[in-house]
Amino acid sequence: MKNIIEKTRTFRKFDATAVIDASTVEKLIELGRLGGSARNCQPWQYRIVTDAGECASVFPHLGWAGYLTDWKGPEERQRPTAYILCYLNREWLKGSLQEAHFDLGIASQNMLLGATEAGLGGCRILAFSKKLAAEFPQPEHLELQLVIALGVPAEKVVIEECSDYNIKYWRDGNQTHHVPKRRLQDILLQP
Ligand SMILES: Cc1cc2nc3c(=O)[nH]c(=O)nc-3n(C[C@H](O)[C@H](O)[C@H](O)COP(=O)(O)O)c2cc1C
Repeated sequence: MKNIIEKTRTFRKFDATAVIDASTVEKLIELGRLGGSARNCQPWQYRIVTDAGECASVFPHLGWAGYLTDWKGPEERQRPTAYILCYLNREWLKGSLQEAHFDLGIASQNMLLGATEAGLGGCRILAFSKKLAAEFPQPEHLELQLVIALGVPAEKVVIEECSDYNIKYWRDGNQTHHVPKRRLQDILLQP
């Protein structure tokens, strides 16, 4: 379990020649479907995007790696080759938006763990432009809230312990992406 969780990193560079079938993405959504849900209302629905033309229409709306201010996002040969668009179904929502977001966190982590097992990787993207929704018209009660980019990873990502409480991820000269994680002793509250 620890091994697969450690391997399930955020990836932002992919092999743009790797074709991902819709059926592969469907299997990830199946993993998301099985997660916990506040009031069990399961208010999320998903649109699979694997077609190259559709992928090309998603990409320009995405914001990548806010801390890497000198990097504009993956170049053409490193772009994701599939996406999961996550829609909140307002008609299925019973509780608060906060509860729904907990659910999506659980579901998306299940999906990304499954992606790792399938030799894929991904990136949750909250920083997308409002215009993206118009590219994939849906009934009014469906609200696009998260994009999950997927692909065959083409970058090295390592986790490391936080020093000086600096949580900003960074890239070294070899383009290895470093993700600082707070140390166990710093997140454990003393009894
Ligand atoms: C809810 C959520 C939203 C995120 N939104 C973005 C985003 O808009 N763009 C991006 O490049 N990364 C985004 N990320 C990825 C985080 O930056 C990433 O999880 C963090 O740097 C830690 O890296 P790790 O996932 O490898 O542990 C998001 C992650 C989460 C959980």
